[in-house]
Amino acid sequence: MRNDNQKQPIIVTVAQQKGGAGKTTMALQLAVAWQKQGHKVALIDIDPQGSANAWSHVRAKALAEAYEGPEVVSITGWRMVGELSRLQQFGFDIIIVDSPPRAEAEVCIAVRSSDICVIPLQASPMDVWATKPTLQFCFREKVPALLVMNRINMRTKLASKMIEEAQLLGAEVSEQTIGSRVAFQSSLAEGMGVVETEPYSDAAKEIDALAAEVLKRAKAKSKKSAFSKAA
Ligand SMILES: Nc1ncnc2c1ncn2[C@@H]1O[C@H](COP(=O)(O)OP(=O)(O)O)[C@@H](O)[C@H]1O
Ligand SMILES: [Mg+2]
Repeated sequence: MRNDNQKQPIIVTVAQQKGGAGKTTMALQLAVAWQKQGHKVALIDIDPQGSANAWSHVRAKALAEAYEGPEVVSITGWRMVGELSRLQQFGFDIIIVDSPPRAEAEVCIAVRSSDICVIPLQASPMDVWATKPTLQFCFREKVPALLVMNRINMRTKLASKMIEEAQLLGAEVSEQTIGSRVAFQSSLAEGMGVVETEPYSDAAKEIDALAAEVLKRAKAKSKKSAFSKAA
C-alpha cells in the first residue's frame, strides 16, 4: 500500500533493444500484479506500436465500471518528463514505462527518469549481445539495471550458461526468472494479468515474486529525486 512518507512514485522502465524479448508482456504483468497488491499504478506506453495501450482497451471493455487500473497512457518518449510530472499529481505509487525495441534517445529519456530499468532477455546469445546498448544507457545515467531471464527453461544447460553470460555484462541478474507460459499470453488476450486469471498458477507466482523483487531493489537504490534529475 502507499507509504505516505513516499512523496515520489517509483519509476520502472522496461527496456531492451531486441524486439520480442518480452518487454510489453512483463510490463503489463508487473503492472497488474502491483495493482492487485494495492498499489496505485500507471503504465506509460512509449512504443509507437501501442500494444500496452491496446491491452488497456480490451481491459476497459472487459471490466467496464470495475476498471480500477492500471492507468495506461500512450505518448512519445519525448513527452516523458512532462507526463511524469502530470501523473505525479495523481498520487501514483508506481509508474512503469513500456519502451520500443530500439536503443534511441526516447528510451534514454525514460531510463534517465527511472529508479530502475528492468531488462528482459531470453536465454540465447543473441539476447545477451543485444542487451549491451540498453545497459550502456543505464551505466551512463547511473540507473540500476536488472536483467530478468524470460521464457527460460531452468532444466537446460543453456539456461545456466546464459545466466552466467548475463552476469558478466556488469548488471545485476534477478533472482526470479520467468518461464515460457501460455498463461502470460492468454491473460493479456482477455485484458487481464495472470495474477487475476490464474492466481495460483506458477506464472502468477513468478510475476508476484518478480514484482516484489523489482520493488525492493528500486526502493533500495532509488535516487533522491528522479524528477529533479529528469527536469
Ligand atoms: N514469459 C513468456 N511466456 C510466454 N510467452 C511470452 C513470454 N514473454 C513474452 N512472450 C511472448 O513473446 C512475444 C513477444 O513478447 P512481447 O512482450 O511483445 O515482447 P517485446 O515487447 O519485447 O517486443 C509475444 O508473443 C508474447 O506473448
Ligand atoms: Mg513491446
